[in-house]
Amino acid sequence: MAPTNTRRHIRQVINELAETIRERDRVTYDHCRRVAIYAQRLARAVGLQRTAARTIAQAALVHDLGKTWMQNEVLNKPSALSLDERHEMERHPIIAARIMMAYDAPDELIDIVRHHHEAYDGSGYPDGIKGAAIPLGARILTIADVFDALTTQRPYKEAMSLEVAREHIAARAGKMFDPAITDVFLHLLNERQDFQIAMHTTCPLPAIDPTWDAHDNFDLAS
Ligand SMILES: [Fe+2]
Repeated sequence: MAPTNTRRHIRQVINELAETIRERDRVTYDHCRRVAIYAQRLARAVGLQRTAARTIAQAALVHDLGKTWMQNEVLNKPSALSLDERHEMERHPIIAARIMMAYDAPDELIDIVRHHHEAYDGSGYPDGIKGAAIPLGARILTIADVFDALTTQRPYKEAMSLEVAREHIAARAGKMFDPAITDVFLHLLNERQDFQIAMHTTCPLPAIDPTWDAHDNFDLAS
């Protein structure tokens, strides 16, 4: 068996898992790709090194892997979920973590994925941990995730405008989101008019404006 946790092994595992998401559900896959790019940009803006930012981007690329195990009626429901359906859906971070474990993904990535729905004030899931107990990568990912969910169209809702999404996120600083990371995110949104990327980002690599930080060029193949 190939040695685990080498950079090459991790890249292979993440690419294979991302591929399974793409085959199961294109909407979730496109979401994951955009979130990976946003999360990497935010991680760099927070001051993380390139390698740490890449790790967060890799986790982001498979963060909704657990949704591929949800029934179609829940995954593609065109209206709000019932309480039971919501409980089922809320198992997706645990399911993803379990699959990643079976693939020998590094613990660091598994932890980010498991905790991407935790809230800064402890009201999130699956473990209800709060503040600095939530892995930094998960605190970054959750903002990128929510921003993308708000600003894209879903079967049951229209896309929010950038301005409304900004207010929505700012209002949840210290509750859902780490306030310091939220500040950096809002600053990024203000500074970079080109922060938002196209809904149908083409795979495997998105077109990145060269005026972005060179490190922004999100390339899992590198
Ligand atoms: Fe999720």
